Amino acid sequence: MVIKTVEFVKSSEKWQNCPEPTLAEYAFIGRSNVGKSSLINAMMNRKDLAKTSQTPGKTQLINHFIVNEKWYLTDLPGYGYAKVSKVQRKDFEKLITNYILNRKNLVNLFVLVDARHNPQKIDLEFMEWCGESGVPFSIVFTKADKLKTSVLTKNIEEYKNELLKFWEELPQCFVTSAEKKEGCDDILQLIEDTNTFLEKNKVKFEN
Ligand code: GTP
Ligand code: MG
Repeated sequence: MVIKTVEFVKSSEKWQNCPEPTLAEYAFIGRSNVGKSSLINAMMNRKDLAKTSQTPGKTQLINHFIVNEKWYLTDLPGYGYAKVSKVQRKDFEKLITNYILNRKNLVNLFVLVDARHNPQKIDLEFMEWCGESGVPFSIVFTKADKLKTSVLTKNIEEYKNELLKFWEELPQCFVTSAEKKEGCDDILQLIEDTNTFLEKNKVKFEN
């Protein structure tokens, strides 16, 4: 997909304040610091579109971007950020789950996991919740540049095997590096194909 235009639309503190749900929407979710905002910037070929930080918990609101005046790209706050109070964490989780369950135009969720780590309970539980809630999602392995190819391949194989203990089939998986801009085109291709499918089937998003 050629990115002709991308604009920041708004930051919202709850789903009710998000832009009118009249376009197909694709959202990025995952643990704090996994690289959601960085991957969005890499995909859009922009340095500072979504704010990134070495400190977890940077993105605290639901950030909407509009791409090619046609679809929404959404940067969500991370879940599981340890350094906030339990109450704050619950509030964050509520914000995220309410957004996911109520956002009528959400077509696909990209669940990011760090390619360096073993499957984490919080991610597996989140994906399980997506499955139970009927939320379509794909898995995106991030920070691939931080590993040697052999280790990366092994980690991803192990991750998939772990998932297959709970899932009959795997969702679509992407291996990415925001640093090296790897895997970005594959994600954009999925979005383009999905948009084409929606258009062909005359799917309309209305208020
Ligand atoms: P929150 O908004 O806090 O939930 O974090 P986030 O998931 O948006 O992560 P962010 O994009 O801010 O990146 C966190 C840190 O990881 C930053 O220091 C990034 O530079 C680094 N990072 C992100 N993606 C990559 C990558 O592909 N490769 C490498 N080497 N570093 C990355
Ligand atoms: Mg972020």
